[in-house]
Amino acid sequence: LAPPLLDAQGRRMTYLRLSITDRCNFRCTYCSPASWGGKKDLLTAEELARISAVFASMGIRRVRLTGGEPLIRPDIVDVSRRIAALPGIRNVAITTNASHLAALAVPLREAGVTQLNISLDTLSPETFRRISKQGDFDAILRGIDAAAAAGYASLKLNAVVMRGVNDGEAAALVAYAHARGITPRFIELMPFGQGQPVPTAELVEQLRASGLALEPEPEEQEEAAASPTSGPARYWRTPAGRVGFISPLTQNFCGGCNRVRVASNGDLRSCLGGRAQAPLHQLIRGGATDVELAVAIRRALGDKPDGHRFTEPGNDATLLSMMGIGG
Ligand code: GTP
Ligand code: 5AD
Ligand code: SF4
Repeated sequence: LAPPLLDAQGRRMTYLRLSITDRCNFRCTYCSPASWGGKKDLLTAEELARISAVFASMGIRRVRLTGGEPLIRPDIVDVSRRIAALPGIRNVAITTNASHLAALAVPLREAGVTQLNISLDTLSPETFRRISKQGDFDAILRGIDAAAAAGYASLKLNAVVMRGVNDGEAAALVAYAHARGITPRFIELMPFGQGQPVPTAELVEQLRASGLALEPEPEEQEEAAASPTSGPARYWRTPAGRVGFISPLTQNFCGGCNRVRVASNGDLRSCLGGRAQAPLHQLIRGGATDVELAVAIRRALGDKPDGHRFTEPGNDATLLSMMGIGG
């Protein structure tokens, strides 16, 4: 068995985020780069499964499919099924804008997807149009209801909060999500596009002022939430369910990072805020063996930075494309 995949800081990588397309049917202001070419040279379903298998042999246990919008790939069910069937992979999740979930929620669950994170920033059709520019708001709401009825082990709602755009909707989004058995989460805007972030502490105060009884998770759950396998969100309890906050700006979670990413062009990125570090697609097309891929991956992780630099003046995140990296 291959040794575990450790990065330069000794952090153990167990979670792969695979961006399977940089195309999207929306153009959210916080995500779309000014110059987006809509590149077509994507990894095939077979190549995605092969890369995932190489990562699984090095200790990756969880794969999250992202985009762009992953559900606009015609072979999304096939991609999910192949990856879910790999030895070592315990869990396949997808982050989606829900626009195609009315048709796909059931087939994806049957293919082995266990968790969906759904992006929904607002309950107002006007604000939705302002943020996402295009897309069918009613289809999103239908997609979310289909997901809620499809029997997933975990459903989360992601709301990126922007000053002066959707910063008054937290309580309504919490009620909407909890009514459907979904965990709402609020995300501090990272500097990939336009907009001003709202600090998590302010949202917690706003939710409390609206009458929501927010309590910190009991200690043991908080420890579990802070463990390196569980992702960046920190959760609070309410009588109707949990509420999560993802706070890359005010509560950096890089120290516990367990993540490695492959962008839609097949480049391995060791950090969301970092540069590409291994051209996996190019290596595959050049005939690299699985062992050669593993060597390239291990070498790239040896250069993983200790954290993002989004809050430092002069950082150049806006030069990167959220649409190609997948968050
Ligand atoms: P799970 O923990 O697997 O549920 O997923 P997640 O919350 O990591 O994934 P999701 O795709 O729902 O992303 C939610 C938010 O977290 C998005 O804004 C991502 O960009 C952000 N995010 C995910 N991983 C990282 C990370 O390693 N660093 C930073 N800075 N942000 C991340
Ligand atoms: N900052 C924070 N989150 C973002 N997302 C997209 N762009 C940004 C940004 N600039 C979120 C999406 C989706 C997840 C993959 O990343 O809303 O839920
Ligand atoms: Fe598309 Fe998601 Fe980016 Fe919005 S955040 S443009 S839905 S990939």
